[in-house]
Amino acid sequence: MPYEPVLLARVGKPDSHRLEGYRADGGYAAFERALKEKQPADVVTQVKDSGLRGRGGAGFPTGLKWTFLPKDHPGPVYLCVNADESEPCTYNNRILMEKDPHQVLEGILLACYAIKARTAFYYVRYEYGDAYRNCQAAVDELYAAGLLGKNILNSGFDLDVVMHRGAGAYICGEETGLIESLEGKRAWPRIKPPFPAVEGAFRKPTIVNNVETLACVTQIMRRGNDWFKSLGVPPDPKNPRDAGSYGPKLYTLAGHVEKPVCVELPMGVTIRDLVETHGGGVWKGRKAKAVNPGGLSMGFVDCNAKLKDSDLTEYDIPLDFNGPGRVQCLGLGTAAVTVIDDQTSMVDVLHNVCQFFSHESCGQCTPCREGTGWMLKIVDRMRRGLGRKEDLDILVDVADRIGIMPGTTICGLADGAGWPVKTAVRKFRGEFEAAIRAGTRSRYAKGLEVVGAH
Ligand SMILES: Cc1cc2nc3c(=O)[nH]c(=O)nc-3n(C[C@H](O)[C@H](O)[C@H](O)COP(=O)(O)O)c2cc1C
Ligand code: SF4
Repeated sequence: MPYEPVLLARVGKPDSHRLEGYRADGGYAAFERALKEKQPADVVTQVKDSGLRGRGGAGFPTGLKWTFLPKDHPGPVYLCVNADESEPCTYNNRILMEKDPHQVLEGILLACYAIKARTAFYYVRYEYGDAYRNCQAAVDELYAAGLLGKNILNSGFDLDVVMHRGAGAYICGEETGLIESLEGKRAWPRIKPPFPAVEGAFRKPTIVNNVETLACVTQIMRRGNDWFKSLGVPPDPKNPRDAGSYGPKLYTLAGHVEKPVCVELPMGVTIRDLVETHGGGVWKGRKAKAVNPGGLSMGFVDCNAKLKDSDLTEYDIPLDFNGPGRVQCLGLGTAAVTVIDDQTSMVDVLHNVCQFFSHESCGQCTPCREGTGWMLKIVDRMRRGLGRKEDLDILVDVADRIGIMPGTTICGLADGAGWPVKTAVRKFRGEFEAAIRAGTRSRYAKGLEVVGAH
């Protein structure tokens, strides 16, 4: 039976962003029920037991994160809604905010009730004008309806939602960069620990959650944990660190695909199914060469590489929290699937990727600031037909050394810059070597100077 969308169920309805329609569809009943019948700790327990993992990129268990807040803190405690959504080709948060802002707001109300926050900061990507305006209008409707403000529905619970327009950089999405930016400073990520749950916005305990994560909270509190756990995949017995991938997921398709759409499916759809069935296949009747399974920073899947002891290829891996890691990618990330067709040069693709990360590095850490610039310079050289044999090993060496995982940087941007480089060079080495041997200049290479390198 085809899957019936839940998170996107209201998209396409007339005035889907208005409170009246949302309430007519049962909206805010879960919040009202929680206020009347549940203690905050009950909501935390339910979200924890649901198995919900954060949709912002890292897949951290949501309920567990909420329990990291210090017990009996005098307050204030804050919720920061991460709506910065700057990972290339990711646009699921935008659709939720533009088309169904109340579904996200109900999740915000529930999360704040659970963690005993009286203020939520809604940090929206600068470029998202319509999303910002629709969310602000939805917040205004809630104040007018008595669902925000003091003593909501005579429950004694107070809550304010403060809209905040982002500062227009990728690094504003990193949770401590977001907090710095919210505080009016440059979005320079903080050294952790302390983690935001202990010391976050304005030095107070803070939970940072993604927009889609909060929409899932709404649906969990409305439909229950059995429903949520009936979707997705249980933990992989071969990976003791996998906590399972439950619930629905919004996948965004982009790149060389016929239909670049946002699709809601239970966690665990394969890349092939997503692209061929839901995305109308690779554009112009071509074949897929490479795919980013969850945003650029997750690295590349080689669509023609056979999986061990199988006729399947990396194109057949499931898009759950565990799948991309099985083919040496960083993870599921934002589940933004970018397709690269078989007529596109991986040298050009990698150049584009390196340009992005070099430009977006905030510059605080030398390995990230310099490393992303070096990688761009090397790939730019190749692209102009001046690549050297040793360049490929240098690229992988740099990519392996920069990042929070090797312990050389403050935040994960550098890991995200390294992963596409090392997976591209390791998986498509023959193509890079042939490009270096041929020494031909890419038709996209402009000028002699490297654009965007520090
Ligand atoms: C460079 C960088 C950029 C990020 N950008 C975003 C973003 O735009 N939106 C987001 O929700 N999380 C982003 N994250 C992840 C956040 O730091 C954080 O893990 C997330 O907001 C937590 O929410 P969740 O637990 O609901 O997933 C980014 C992380 C890094 C390292
Ligand atoms: S890793 Fe890069 S983006 Fe992150 S703090 Fe360091 S320099 Fe800035």
